[in-house]
Amino acid sequence: MKILGIESSCDDTSVALIEASENNFVVLAEKTASQIDIHKKYGGVVPEIAGREHAIAIMPVIEEVLSLGYTRDAMQKKPFDFPRLRSGQVAHGKPDAIAVTAGPGLITGLVIGVEAAKNLSYLWEVPLIRVNHMDGHVHSVLLKNQINKSGANIKIENQSIEFPALCLLVSGGHTELLLATDHGVYEKLGATRDDAAGECFDKVAKLLGLEYPGGPKISALAKKGNANTISFPRPMIKENNLDFSFAGLKTAALYWLRDNELSALDVNPDLPAGIFGVQHNNPTRADFCTSFEQAIVDVIVEKTSRAAEKYQPTTIIFGGGVSANEKMRATLRAELQKILPNSKFLIPEKKYSMDNGAMIAVAGYFQAQKNNFTSWRDIVVDPNWEAYISG
Ligand code: KG4
Ligand code: ZN
Repeated sequence: MKILGIESSCDDTSVALIEASENNFVVLAEKTASQIDIHKKYGGVVPEIAGREHAIAIMPVIEEVLSLGYTRDAMQKKPFDFPRLRSGQVAHGKPDAIAVTAGPGLITGLVIGVEAAKNLSYLWEVPLIRVNHMDGHVHSVLLKNQINKSGANIKIENQSIEFPALCLLVSGGHTELLLATDHGVYEKLGATRDDAAGECFDKVAKLLGLEYPGGPKISALAKKGNANTISFPRPMIKENNLDFSFAGLKTAALYWLRDNELSALDVNPDLPAGIFGVQHNNPTRADFCTSFEQAIVDVIVEKTSRAAEKYQPTTIIFGGGVSANEKMRATLRAELQKILPNSKFLIPEKKYSMDNGAMIAVAGYFQAQKNNFTSWRDIVVDPNWEAYISG
C-alpha cells in the first residue's frame, strides 16, 4: 500500500510517499523543507516562526512529493484525474492512506501538518492515521536509502523488528528507554528528568559559540580531542533506575568555561607557545567537546546496557536525532554485543535519524495493519503525547 507520511513537529516540514508491504518499505519520493537557517539566528527553534514556516512549506512539499512519487512509480500506469494540485499539475494517483505526526512536539507545527492531512483525507476520501513522533523514530530503522543518485530504486536487504524490542530514543526533546512488545505498544522504562541529551548538546554548543543545532558540530570537533582532559560529571550513572538527567552536565560545562580558559591552539595549532596568549597545556575546544561527549555517551551506554541485561530484548533500537552520533553508535553497538550477542542492534541510516516524513509513514503502516485509523473529524494534536500511552 502507498502511504503519504507528513511530519511537522519541530523545524522540518518533511513529507514522503512510501510503498509499504510486510518488512519492505520503498521510499518513492521524499522532500524536507528545513528551517534550520531561519532558527539558527535565534540559537534554537522559535515556535511561532516554526508554525509560520510550516504553513508556507506544507502544500508545496506535499505537491512535489506526490508528483515525483507517482512519476517514479512504474506500477502506477493509469493516471487519475485526481488529486489536482494547486500548481495546475495533476498528480498521477493518490495514496492509500495518510499518516501524520500528531505529537509530541511543538503545537504550532503539529497543527499545520494535521490540518493539511485532515483536508487531504476528506478531499481524497483516503483514511487517516494518527502517528506518534517517537513511534516514527523507532520505525526509522526499517528505512533504507533505496533510491540511487539517478533516481532508480535499488534493491536492498529487508530488516524487521522482533519483539520484545528495547528502544533508546534520544533527540532534541526526548531521552527515553521504552520496551516495545508490538509495533506501537510501549512500556516506559526510564526517561530524562530534565533536559534531553540533544538539548544538552545544543545548549553547550551555544556556550562554545557554535551554531544551532550544535550536536553535529560538537561531535565533529570531538573526533579530534582527548576525552580524558576534562572530568565532567556522569549524572545519575550509579543510580539504580533507568532515568537520566542532563541539566547538571550542562551547568558543569558552563562553570568550566567560566572558570577555565581553552587553549588558543584551535585558532592556529602552529603558533609557538607563549605568544598571543597561546597555552599549550590548556584543553583545546576539541578536548572540551570530546570530554563532554564522552560523559553523555557513558551515561546513555550504561543505562541502556542495564536495561538490556534486565529485559533481554530480541531487538535493540537506537533512534532519534542523536542516533547520528558516531561515538554513541559505535560504543553502544560494542557494549550491547557483549551483553546480548544474539540480539539485533538496529540504527537508522543517518539520513533517517533526523525528523522525516518517511518514518512517520512506516509507523503509520503498522497502525494501518491494526486498523487504527482516525477520522478527519476526530483527529487531535497532542504536544505532550507519550509513545507509551496509546492515543
Ligand atoms: O529527532 P530530531 O531530528 O528532532 C527532535 O525531535 O528533537 O533530533 C535533533 C537533535 C538536535 O538536538 C541535534 O543537535 C541532535 O539531534 N543531533 C546530534 C547529532 N546529530 C543531531 N547530537 C549529537 N551528535 C550528533 N551527531
Ligand atoms: Zn525527532
